[in-house]
Amino acid sequence: MLVLGIESSCDECSVAVVRDGQEILSNVVATQIPHHEVYSGVVPELASRLHVQWIHGVTEAALSQAGIKIQDLGGVAATSQPGLIGSLAVGLSFGKAIAFALGLPFKGVNHMLAHLYAPQLESPMEYPFLGLLVSGGHSIICVAEDFDQIRVLGTTIDDAVGEAFDKVAKHYGFGYPGGQVIDQLAEQGDPEVFRFPMPSLHKGEHRYDLSYSGLKTAVIHHLEDYRAKAGPASAENIAAGFRKTAVDTLTSRLHRAVEDTGINRVVAGGGVAANAYLRRVLAAWKDVDIRFPPLSLCGDNGAMVAGIAYRYFQRGEKDDFDLVPNSRIPIYKRGTQK
Ligand code: KG4
Ligand code: ZN
Repeated sequence: MLVLGIESSCDECSVAVVRDGQEILSNVVATQIPHHEVYSGVVPELASRLHVQWIHGVTEAALSQAGIKIQDLGGVAATSQPGLIGSLAVGLSFGKAIAFALGLPFKGVNHMLAHLYAPQLESPMEYPFLGLLVSGGHSIICVAEDFDQIRVLGTTIDDAVGEAFDKVAKHYGFGYPGGQVIDQLAEQGDPEVFRFPMPSLHKGEHRYDLSYSGLKTAVIHHLEDYRAKAGPASAENIAAGFRKTAVDTLTSRLHRAVEDTGINRVVAGGGVAANAYLRRVLAAWKDVDIRFPPLSLCGDNGAMVAGIAYRYFQRGEKDDFDLVPNSRIPIYKRGTQK
């Protein structure tokens, strides 16, 4: 079955064709980053307008790169939640229109579950496994019982990890989006020059929780020294110190989860899963099978949407055409989520 997957939850306009939830025939990603860069953040109204302008061309490119005709499709899927409501509405409406016109099943997809599915496209991991879902809007440590069911163990009590990278970069004027810029700067810096403290959430229900607002404040504290080019406050050293604490916080919680649950299979997903230091630390863990998506599937993309949708279609599950987008999902809370 060939599934068309549409992703428009934020600032990437992406459409993909995936065969049987596994084989990526095409995955076209048109990024809006240059349009939002001047504002140092995503402007929601601009994002939805660009999706409207681009979605048709991106879809045609995805079909032609896959070497198929639209009539060859067996199903259509689009991200329906969470994300920017106007942006979601564009992809969702476009996808529903295609499915309706061709008489195909349609499925709205949860963006975070799709991120967790991304590594499954290349090299499937058996369920259950531990999931590390780290993006600009979410930071979640969970047990993935199945492709559509996760049990949240811990989450951030304030900022998401990607958001912290973006905010630090914005304050320092490093560029946008901040994650990749800081990651690259940090490769040239010394992480021992600025040792930022990790959040001390160790007990009870907070055992796996994360926090980034304290770290962000601590890093911004050095802004004046950086601007005055005083002492060791170089962009590289600050980036390296920040990246180390941000990532060590994630891996310390994840390690607890491995020890407590006895589950030694881990899948990482979301934009922050592209982080070079995170990938190095986890790859060095002994006795843990760790699966990262390839860099091309870490950020937002249509392939993960098409991939997970196939699994729903296999079960005979689809959505009605009155499905509406949702900007938020109750996935933050601890416990089982679908
Ligand atoms: O999954 P994604 O593309 O969009 C959301 O669903 O949010 O993730 C974007 C986030 C941004 O905050 C970006 O700064 C961060 O992922 N990011 C990174 C890296 N590449 C992207 N964070 C740390 N290191 C990276 N290499
Ligand atoms: Zn995302």
